[in-house]
This record gives sequence, C-alpha cells and structure tokens, in this order.
Amino acid sequence: MNVLVVNGPNLNLLGEREPAIYGRTTLAELERAVAEHARELGQTVHFFQSNHEGAIIDELHAQRRWANAVIINPAAFTHYSYAIRDALLAINLPCAEVHLSDVDNRPEPFRKISVVRGVCVHCFMGLGVGSYLAALDAFARDARAAIP
Ligand code: DQA
Repeated sequence: MNVLVVNGPNLNLLGEREPAIYGRTTLAELERAVAEHARELGQTVHFFQSNHEGAIIDELHAQRRWANAVIINPAAFTHYSYAIRDALLAINLPCAEVHLSDVDNRPEPFRKISVVRGVCVHCFMGLGVGSYLAALDAFARDARAAIP
C-alpha cells in the first residue's frame, strides 16, 4: 500500500512552534517515525509539506495514481479550505484527517470546525505523532478487511 502523507502550513516549524501545544518533535523526526511504522506494516510512504493551499492541491492531484490512501494534517486549512476538501473528494482515495493536538477540545471555537472531516474515512487527533501512526494502522486494518 502506498500512503501519501501531507502536512499543511506552519508544520515545517514543528519542534520550535508552540511546543507546549505541538511538542518538541521536529517534522523530520515525525516523518522518520511515520516511515518506520509504515515499514513495519509493509506500507510505502511519500511525504509532502507546504504552507500553500494550491501546492497541497497540486500534490494531491500529482500523487492520485501512485497513492492508495492519504493521511493529511491540513493544519489551519482544516478549518476553512473548501478547496482542499474538494481536492480530497476529486482524487477519490480513502483519506485520514490527523492532528497533533486535540482540536475538538482547544479553546478557540474555530478549531472545532473541520471542513474536511466529512470526506475522510478516519480522524485521529491529540496523539501527537501517534495520530499519524494510528492512521497508518487504520489503513492497514482496512486493507486486511478488504481481502476476500
Ligand atoms: C493542527 C491544529 C490546527 O488547528 C492548527 O492550525 C495547526 C495544527 C494540529 O496538528 O494540531 O496548524 O492541525
């Protein structure tokens, strides 16, 4: 199984960005942990991070034939990007929404809104890197369940 892992704006600053909320793990460390877990599950991962909505959409389009599943942390785009929601629908792949923090229980009301959740088959939040690992596990389970 090929899994595209997309990280949205400001996640390139993981490790130094608001560490009390997002932790001290850098994006490179996060990607290493995800790649390691994917290897254990027999999955292949491709990583992409961008601070730009259009670049994220272009990457979803570009990888749509290679990928069998998508893990996406749209970061702030979660809360308002109908363009990313439409792109996830357009590529017609199973998608998991992930967040490092527990967006449903943070104080800012806007964080409780996700415009992508309705087009994702899984959602994991508040587990740090574990949210991404849980999404890999979920896709592995789905693949096993699909075997006749
Ligand atoms: C985030 C939560 C979003 O609300 C925020 O804008 C982010 C990161 C998370 O992973 O917890 O940038 O998606």
